[in-house]
Amino acid sequence: MTPRIMDKAARVLASPLGYTDEQRMHESLAHLRAHAPVSWVEAEGYRPFWAITKHADIMDIERQNDLFTNDPRPLLAIAEADDVLRAQMEAGIGLRTLIHMDDPLHRDMRKIGADWFRPKAMRALKTRCDELAKIYVDKMLERGPELDFVQEIAVNFPLYIILSLLGLPESDFPRMLKLTQEMFGGDDEEFQRGGKTDDMLAVLLDFFNYFNALTASRREHPTEDLSSAIANATINGEPLSDMDTASYYVIVASAGHDTTSAGIAGGLLELIRNPGELQRLQNDPSLMGTAVEEMIRCIVPVKEFMRTAQADTEVRGVPIAEGEAVLLSYVSANRDEEVFADPMRFDVGRDPNKHLSFGYGVHFCLGAALARMEMNSFFTELVPRIKSIELAGEPELMATTFVGGLKRLPIRYSLK
Ligand code: HEM
Repeated sequence: MTPRIMDKAARVLASPLGYTDEQRMHESLAHLRAHAPVSWVEAEGYRPFWAITKHADIMDIERQNDLFTNDPRPLLAIAEADDVLRAQMEAGIGLRTLIHMDDPLHRDMRKIGADWFRPKAMRALKTRCDELAKIYVDKMLERGPELDFVQEIAVNFPLYIILSLLGLPESDFPRMLKLTQEMFGGDDEEFQRGGKTDDMLAVLLDFFNYFNALTASRREHPTEDLSSAIANATINGEPLSDMDTASYYVIVASAGHDTTSAGIAGGLLELIRNPGELQRLQNDPSLMGTAVEEMIRCIVPVKEFMRTAQADTEVRGVPIAEGEAVLLSYVSANRDEEVFADPMRFDVGRDPNKHLSFGYGVHFCLGAALARMEMNSFFTELVPRIKSIELAGEPELMATTFVGGLKRLPIRYSLK
């Protein structure tokens, strides 16, 4: 049997703290792309996996969605949490979302929400999105000359939009904010409810209790919102189970929020670190589309997803056995020298920009158009109004192996 390639640099991918040191992370990933692009990782607390770091390999794997499935291990989680969550899902009381499913069920479930994220629906939301962007930039003006951009602006704007799309009352927004942060901040002491698997389950239970009540109310009194579409959906004539309904809300509320806030906060930091690029964007607002895409490429709010091989196969000539998991490092793919010229450079005019921040294939991010629109609205409002902007302290990244970005971005600024 061919010996497994085990490059210890790849262990950084199983280290939440590893993601808080961007430079070291990028050095490790560049090393892996050059020397061990398919590397076996054994890290304490986690089940072993293959780290996939080349852009082309990640696309190949995602394209073959029958051979490489999302079930049973869609993302990297500590083994104990993996086991508990799986047992709960099998008992019908856990989380089973689009990312846990494969076709044909995945296809049917995805259809339920898809219309709400198509360009037509986005056009209907655009005015509201622009208005909200103005409200939040005005708030920056009022609150100036210093604030923590993450906690005061970036987390609130996308949350407001996604919860409005779901049709939730504004009075519930603070509760949802806390729950989504506890869910995705599970690896970061500052956000987690407690470090134990039981604490994570308690967060999940709170989500479920809230959303089960929502389902009951939307079934009784249907409304014109995404929640109602989910609550009243049927597959093969049957309504969704409580678990599938609540899970649908959870994925929309959580995936639609922390990801985009990470994009907005990280995007602003890129503009601060690259004043020449900020100036370029101010001089030529027609670059906003490519600038937003470049922010999303550089920040990579979703660090990875995983797939499991359903048969013996190989990737880049490396044998992968049936049942083994592959971790798709989007952080690495987006800096792949074979795809991006000068990949470490932040270039607001980069075109083409075939980044994999939204994934690829049948699981391609359902909310990509919404995320792009939100970031576009926000920076279209903010950028022309910036007279000056600089850091007022050290930016801090969240410890995570999954979703996240900055948890603090202290800025000093003056706006028009
Ligand atoms: C910059 C912001 C965002 C990023 C970087 C992002 C990234 C991703 C990624 C990488 C995937 C998995 C793709 C794959 O497996 O190939 C995904 C899936 C998904 N995203 Fe996003 N996302 C963002 C915003 C949103 C928003 C605003 C929503 C709104 C609800 C959303 C909803 C979803 C859903 C429902 C899925 C599961 C799709 C499926 O499995 O079929 N995302 N996203």
